[in-house]
Amino acid sequence: MIDTKLIVGNWKMNNLLKDTIVLTSGLVEMVADIKGKQFKMVLCPPAVLIPEVHKIVENSDILVGGQNCHQEKSGAHTGSISAEMLKDAGCDYVIVGHSERRENDREISETVAQKAKTAHEAGLVAIICVGEQERERNSGHQNDVIAVQLDESIPKTANEKNTVIAYEPVWAIGTGKTASDDDIKDMHQFIRETLVEKMKNSNDVSILYGGSVKPMNAEEILHIPNVDGVLVGGASLKAKDFGDIASAC
Ligand code: PGA
Repeated sequence: MIDTKLIVGNWKMNNLLKDTIVLTSGLVEMVADIKGKQFKMVLCPPAVLIPEVHKIVENSDILVGGQNCHQEKSGAHTGSISAEMLKDAGCDYVIVGHSERRENDREISETVAQKAKTAHEAGLVAIICVGEQERERNSGHQNDVIAVQLDESIPKTANEKNTVIAYEPVWAIGTGKTASDDDIKDMHQFIRETLVEKMKNSNDVSILYGGSVKPMNAEEILHIPNVDGVLVGGASLKAKDFGDIASAC
């Protein structure tokens, strides 16, 4: 049973320095005002903004994460950022295998597993994303798809402390559509059961839901069994909205 919910904001390719300062300082204030916190907040800004975010949240309860890392530790990979660099810049988490990278950058699950392993070795918690396409859900194949993604994307180095799973149905990301409460409940239970074969203390692995989470639906989603937090895109770009989602824990 996981008592502390994880509230992760994925800014994607949004925000300049001035927006970052306003948003992050606003969140620091809001989080400080929330009494009896039952959540841990993680902000995942674009890589160049990580040092600034880290500086602003340093004396608060907010943590910082990257949105991606390279699968190799270092070397000739122009334009890429290593897990060790993220750690060095103040990150504790990194998202790997987001569906936008799986789709737009042709990232396959084996690469995602390598990225997660490199993240673990650098001392980061890897947030491994999985999710089915709309056609896969419509044809009833969502569990098969997720089982394969989990099997191929989780490296042997994974344990309950260094790994978080984020279930994000691809058709719910940025669309305003969310999976129904029953579908989320069934999928999260399925993921929990599947994790038993992959990890020793699988009951203690946080499983997040992502896909059009907003202040309006956050409370309901956060109270579904086996939902240990949320991965939020659009609604993490406004301090009030993201703060309200955290308050819904
Ligand atoms: P969304 O994005 O909240 O804008 O749907 C979620 C995500 O991509 O992680």
